[in-house]
This record gives sequence, C-alpha cells and structure tokens, in this order.
Amino acid sequence: MGRAFVYVILGGGVAAGYAALEFTKKGVSHGELCIISEETVVPYERPALSKGFLLPEAPARLPEFHTCVGANEERLTPKWYKEHGIELVLGTRVKSADVRRKTLLTATGETISYRVLIIATGARALKLEEFGVNGSDAENVCYLRDLTDATRLVNVMQSCPGGNAVVIGGGYIGMECAASLVINKINVAMVFPEAHCMARLFTPKIANYYEEFYKSKGVKFVKGTVLSSFDFNSEGKVTGVNLRDGSHLPADMVVVGIGIRPNTSLFEGQLTLEKGGIKVNGRLQSSNSSVYAVGDVAAFPVKIFGDTRRLEHVDSARKSARHAVAAIMEPDKTGEFDYLPFFYSRVFTLSWQFYGDSAGEVIHFGDFSGTTFGAYFVSKCHLVGSFLEGGTKEEYEAIAKATRLKPSVEDLAELERQGLGFALTV
Ligand code: FDA
Ligand code: NAD
Repeated sequence: MGRAFVYVILGGGVAAGYAALEFTKKGVSHGELCIISEETVVPYERPALSKGFLLPEAPARLPEFHTCVGANEERLTPKWYKEHGIELVLGTRVKSADVRRKTLLTATGETISYRVLIIATGARALKLEEFGVNGSDAENVCYLRDLTDATRLVNVMQSCPGGNAVVIGGGYIGMECAASLVINKINVAMVFPEAHCMARLFTPKIANYYEEFYKSKGVKFVKGTVLSSFDFNSEGKVTGVNLRDGSHLPADMVVVGIGIRPNTSLFEGQLTLEKGGIKVNGRLQSSNSSVYAVGDVAAFPVKIFGDTRRLEHVDSARKSARHAVAAIMEPDKTGEFDYLPFFYSRVFTLSWQFYGDSAGEVIHFGDFSGTTFGAYFVSKCHLVGSFLEGGTKEEYEAIAKATRLKPSVEDLAELERQGLGFALTV
C-alpha cells in the first residue's frame, strides 16, 4: 500500500500550517502536497494552549485558533485544506523514514513517498522519569505539549476547585501555567532548581519583578531544589510532592514543564544533527538536498549572530516554514534565511517581548516598580538583545528594529540614561 506526493510535510503543528499557506501562495497544484500528523486536528496555534485555552471564562477552543490566525493571516480550517487539494493524513504517526528511498512508513502500514520532504516534527516534553522520578502517568500529573494534554489539564484543574497545584519547572510552561492556574482559583507552588524563574532568559532583576508579581497573586516559590518523589493515594493519584531539600508540598494536581527534546529520532544516522536538532543551511535544507527542516526541530544559521541555533518559539517556526517553502518553490528568487530571534510571553496583565541574544553586559532601564521596563544586552560594544515589558506596539517595533541594526554602544552609562529612548531614536 502506498501513495506518492511531490511535497510532504511531516508533522502537523505550527510550522506545517504556515508552510501549507505559503505553498498555496506559491501556486502548489491540487494533489501535490500532503501533511502527515500524529495529531487528529489540522494545524493550530500551539501558544493558545497555555493561555486562552486554560481560561475559566470563554476559553479559546478550536476552530478559533487554527493557523494562521497568530500572524493575522487566513485561518486554515479542514475545509480550507480540502478546497486547496492538500491531502491530510491525520491521527497517523510516521514510524520510520528512509531518506535515500524518499519514503515514510506510517504506523498504519502505509508507505508515503515524496520528492521533497519538510520535517516539522517539533519536540516532545521531557518526562520526570528522565530525571529519575516516577509518577508521570498518574491521572493528576499533567504535561502540556498538544491539544490532548491541554484538554486533560483543563479536566484535572476542574476536578479540584480551590485545590493545591505544584508546578514543576520555572520556564515558559511553568510561568504561563502557574498564571492560568491562579486565574482558575487554584493555589500554586512553583518548584525549580535555579535561583530565579526563566533562568535561560531573564536577568535576576527582571525575574524578581515577575516573582514579586506572582507572589502578590498568591504563588509560592520553592527555588534551588527539585522534586525527589511523589506521594500517592490508594487510587494512584498524587497527593503530595517530596523535594530534595527535605520539604513536602501537598498536591491535588501537578503540572510539569521541564523542557523539551526535538523529535529527530526518525532521522538519526541519516541526516546531520546539531544542537539537538536537524542541521540545515540558510535555505532550511538538511544534509540531504531533498529534505528540509523547520520549526523547533531545525538547527539553522542565525546570520545576524554568525552561529547555528535551534529556537523553540513560534515566530521562528512560522518564518522558517515560509522560508523553506519559498526556497523550494522559487529557488532563484530566495536568498538565505536572515532571522532575528524573537520571543514573547503574556501572563496575567503582563506582557513582554525579547529580540536578539541575551548575551554580554546587561543595562536595565525604565521603572521596575511600575509597568514599563526593560533591558539591553551589549556584547563587544554592540547592542545584541533587547527586552521590554509593558511596551506599546511602536515601542516593541523600535526595540526590534534597533536590535536588528546592532548599533555600536560605546558608553553603557549613556545607554542607561537614554533607556527606551535609545531604541526609539536609533
Ligand atoms: P509543533 O510541536 O507545533 O508541531 C509538531 C507536529 O509534529 C505535531 O503535530 C506532532 O504531533 C507532529 N509529529 C511529531 N512526530 C511525528 C511523527 N513521527 N509522525 C507524525 N507526526 C509527528 N512560543 C512562543 O514563541 N510564544 C508562546 O507564547 C508559546 N507558547 C507555547 C505554549 C505551549 C503550551 C507550547 C507547548 C509551546 C509554546 N510555544 C510558544 C512554542 C511554540 O508553540 C513552538 O515553538 C512551535 O509550536 C513549534 O512549531 P513546530 O511546527 O516546529 O512544532
Ligand atoms: P523551558 O526550557 O522554558 O524551561 C524548563 C525549566 O525546567 C527550567 O527553567 C527549569 O526551571 C526546569 N527544570 C529543568 N530540570 C528540572 C528538574 N529536574 N526538576 C525541576 N525543574 C527542572 O521549557 P518548558 O517551560 O518546559 O517549555 C517547553 C517548550 O515550550 C519550550 O520549547 C518553550 O520555548 C515552549 N514554550 C514557549 C512559550 C513562550 O515562548 N511564551 C510558552 C510555553 C512554552
């Protein structure tokens, strides 16, 4: 049993949705493109799962947040794929790939062949078992990667109104879920090994602002330790969390966000890997010229910084997907991907954006006791990164533009004095 397509996108997440739209813009013909996804729904904006989807009032539900609404583009419903002659193979896991033969074998036993493959398999959540703790399969322990996880999280949350949640991990999932749990009137304790939240990106001063804000909402922080085991009741439900520092936290539910691993396993030994992902060039092309990789799974050259990075964020998924399709469909017109890293988050009434690189010296600016503040990152006398909380659209655009220009900064004290004004006048 088998089918053949000109283009196959493996994975049905954010990058797949944006790639599909770009294919139609570039004139793909009916029947040429196929998307294979383990998920049973067409591509959606994954960021909604830790935000609007978890709201107690008027929560976001599909079809509202199918791609590509996140970039104010057309919303691609199942009907749209049908109308554009895009074949959807949903609820189907690919279990092996042969890049030499250009075939994929699905768990249902079908062989799908391609002329060009785009790998958009994203990543999976790391499990506690990988850190030596058992209990991930207890019914009140939640991870959050896809719609199934999010639906489960909502059900668990609703089963313990006013109860206690322990959030494991102080990264993006931890911070966004903790805020959503509080909004659902659940008591939250956050546990993570670092000295402050969002350790990969926030400076201690920035982190302190968010931690104080969270504390004012009742969140308890347990920092500098990790969990060692769970307590279970006779039904196998978690009732408490034991920490390595000897303390104990009661738990009606647990949310775990301890990082991800890119889904590369199908291609290990067949394609070159780097930074835990599939290494691609500035055209998003892997070590096999018929195979492209985009989104969380791709390690691509970040031209502005002259190195190769794997970014785990939605903007990079959207733009790398579009660029790969342009490179495939219009090779002569498409140059190298030139991407400025962009991250953001929204929690409670707070909202921040970050552009560039969090390297070098940090210059904080603005009012850390108010609502608008930020930081510049200066490396080798050049602005390389900018963070802003509580900015306006124009201010965010200004820090993005300034960071992209990488202006030279000779006098850090002067940069501090100018604050946001520096970005607005660059
Ligand atoms: P993505 O994970 O979206 O899709 C991968 C797809 O491949 C899935 O459909 C999966 O089922 C499928 N797949 C994998 N292996 C397969 C196989 N063998 N066979 C078939 N199908 C397979 N970023 C940001 O910048 N701002 C934000 O606010 C957020 N918020 C956020 C919330 C939550 C809850 C999560 C989990 C993530 C975010 N992110 C984010 C990160 C962002 O969502 C992420 O970077 C993109 O979804 C990456 O898009 P991809 O298409 O690469 O992977
Ligand atoms: P993360 O990498 O942001 O954070 C992982 C956190 O896990 C670390 O900050 C650390 O505190 C914690 N940790 C690591 N080992 C631990 C251990 N043994 N015990 C306890 N804690 C431990 O990853 P995440 O928060 O799981 O997010 C998953 C993915 O989803 C990431 O790719 C992220 O970019 C993406 N995401 C992004 C956004 C956003 O951009 N706004 C929002 C949600 C999710």
